[in-house]
Amino acid sequence: MVKKNACIFISGKGTNLSNLIKKSRDYNFPINIRLVVTNNKEAKGIIHAKKNSIPYIVINTNSRYFENQIITNLNIHNISFICLAGYMKIISKNFLKRFRKTIINIHPSLLPKFKGLNTFSRILKNKEVKTGCTVHYVNEKLDEGNIINKKSFFITKQDDEAKLKYKTQKLEYFAFPEAIYKIFKDN
Ligand code: GRF
Repeated sequence: MVKKNACIFISGKGTNLSNLIKKSRDYNFPINIRLVVTNNKEAKGIIHAKKNSIPYIVINTNSRYFENQIITNLNIHNISFICLAGYMKIISKNFLKRFRKTIINIHPSLLPKFKGLNTFSRILKNKEVKTGCTVHYVNEKLDEGNIINKKSFFITKQDDEAKLKYKTQKLEYFAFPEAIYKIFKDN
């Protein structure tokens, strides 16, 4: 199998990044992670790139040219697939036009419910019975691209925001790799 060269975009802890790096060691997994991009120089997740000798770039999103810098690096590393894993920046129309290959994102709710930020507090406020995570294609609208994979669980009375986050992330570690298998299974 010829694996795709993938880039993971992160802004925070990078637990999904770490999980995808582990999965990518499997010869059957469709991607190799060749680059990590972050907009946050303090992102804890950078450690996973360092530990695994994966090149990473920290971009200054205040600069006018940050998208050019990302595109240049994607080209250098021959990247044909991007996973957004806790990347707290909207992907612009211009970027989508220039990259033209697949970008996917993981979101901590059952989309189309609870797009955007502060999902866990809104889920609790709304007294939802179930929640979970969604992996979807990225388009020009926030959290709106076609859905690839979803996983859910029932909310209990004991669940606060921290518990919801913990349970959701545990599901993410299955949902994200599964989505990647699904995308490439016929290729
Ligand atoms: C995940 O919960 C994901 O759903 C959201 O950001 C979080 C990233 O977590 N988009 P981590 O950085 O992978 O630990």
